[in-house]
Amino acid sequence: MSNIKKKQSSITLKSGFCFEYGNLYGESRVTERDVSDLAEQVALAHQAVEHMRTTGEVRGHLSKDATPERVLFTQLPYVEEGNLNSPNSIAKLKDFGKSLQNRVDTVISFGIGGSYLGNKVLFDVHCGEFWNSKTKIEREGYPKLYFSGNNIDPRRTAELIEHLLAEVQLKAIDGQNDPYKVALVVISKSGGTLDTMSTFMVIYEALCQHAPKLEVEVVAVTDPAEGEKSTLLKKLADEKGWPTFSVPDGVGGRFSIFSEVGLVTAACVGLDIDEFLSGARDMDVVCQNPDIYENPAMLNAVLKFIAAEKYGRDIEVFMPYADYLKSVAEWYVQLLAESLGKRTDREGKEVFYGRTPIVAVGTTDMHAQTQQHQDGKRNKVVQFLQVAEWDKDAVIPDVFPSAPKLSEISTLHLSQALEVARAANADALLSDDRFNANFVLPKLNAYHLGELLYLLALSIAYEGELANVDAFDQPGVEAYKRLMGPRLKTLREK
Ligand code: PA5
Repeated sequence: MSNIKKKQSSITLKSGFCFEYGNLYGESRVTERDVSDLAEQVALAHQAVEHMRTTGEVRGHLSKDATPERVLFTQLPYVEEGNLNSPNSIAKLKDFGKSLQNRVDTVISFGIGGSYLGNKVLFDVHCGEFWNSKTKIEREGYPKLYFSGNNIDPRRTAELIEHLLAEVQLKAIDGQNDPYKVALVVISKSGGTLDTMSTFMVIYEALCQHAPKLEVEVVAVTDPAEGEKSTLLKKLADEKGWPTFSVPDGVGGRFSIFSEVGLVTAACVGLDIDEFLSGARDMDVVCQNPDIYENPAMLNAVLKFIAAEKYGRDIEVFMPYADYLKSVAEWYVQLLAESLGKRTDREGKEVFYGRTPIVAVGTTDMHAQTQQHQDGKRNKVVQFLQVAEWDKDAVIPDVFPSAPKLSEISTLHLSQALEVARAANADALLSDDRFNANFVLPKLNAYHLGELLYLLALSIAYEGELANVDAFDQPGVEAYKRLMGPRLKTLREK
């Protein structure tokens, strides 16, 4: 029996997750005819994604050193013996999380791009803004967590060190005699990224000087290859005896949130790893359906592809209505930009494909960007993200009855006001044929987050097929790296 209820212009899964595409599909938008004209290409794209899922092979995909490379992210939700995530590897992650509980005061997670953006999503959704100000009891013994290495910012790096040293003092003043313990979790697939490693070295050196009041331990997350292929970070970890987790082969940074890269942050703060992967797995099963109107990853890709190619909508504004989902939009920026922003197709013909991703947050950016979305160039799809049910949801009180305008909004829940704002924005855009769509998460939890992120990742694989570009490489980022390396060397020699 299908686990999908069909509703006009939306796909609702059994879990309640919903893709509402009515404002992107219909007359004056992407039409049914547009979609049926593409039927053959869509069927081929589905076959290619199925082939990727079963073999890891993606036509034309080469690694950075120009050798064929498998694409394995679709295996990650399946925790099985012999898979990239196995019962043992998940148990090791959970043990790591437990080993921090009530022992380590603070974790600093170092990483950038695919070694940071997914981790920030998991942290924000699980911990929110005030995690580091909560008591240990409120954090259930899990450590505070800061990010670093996601920029080479001298001031923030210095201030993070100052902040930690102040915390060390506070712990001593508090009469707690045991040393302040910091775990530095260094995440880098290549093991030598400038941003990550430079800030790690600065902070490691600064903190180590304060032993024995401050104890530092390091965990490395990197390519596990041994011998000649070993990354710098792996070699260091072996030399120093640091524990390690793996960035598996065949999983690019932007797809690594479902691997040990993302899950290590989940473990540090107690996010439910099983639920997160279970959401991804259930979405993967749904997206094996060849019927485009029952496969949300495929439908999302097809509608956005047609919107871009036929209607010139080559900007995608990703707009969650929730502060703590802003980092999902930031994660999606990398996923979309690095995967689909390609100069050539797989035959080497110049195509300059891709949609420019934009981060927006509702309602915040209705007071900043919406003017441009509503009246600017007709070159955008606005992708909304809605949370249907909120755990914490105050009622607006009637505290100033003498002010009728304020009294009018009283008795509403904040979530109702939020959704009225989102729906009004969507309808206003629609009234002028401005393309938009909506993902609805029934609740903000690990399971539905897993569903959403996996759908977006798989959708990228479909769109790569439709556009005939390699969605799994990023040759464009080498251009600045070729210039940067020698310049750093010259600077040092001077
Ligand atoms: O997606 C990518 O490949 C990049 O964004 C990388 O994740 C980023 O450059 C960090 O690389 P590394 O994990 O090797 O330090």
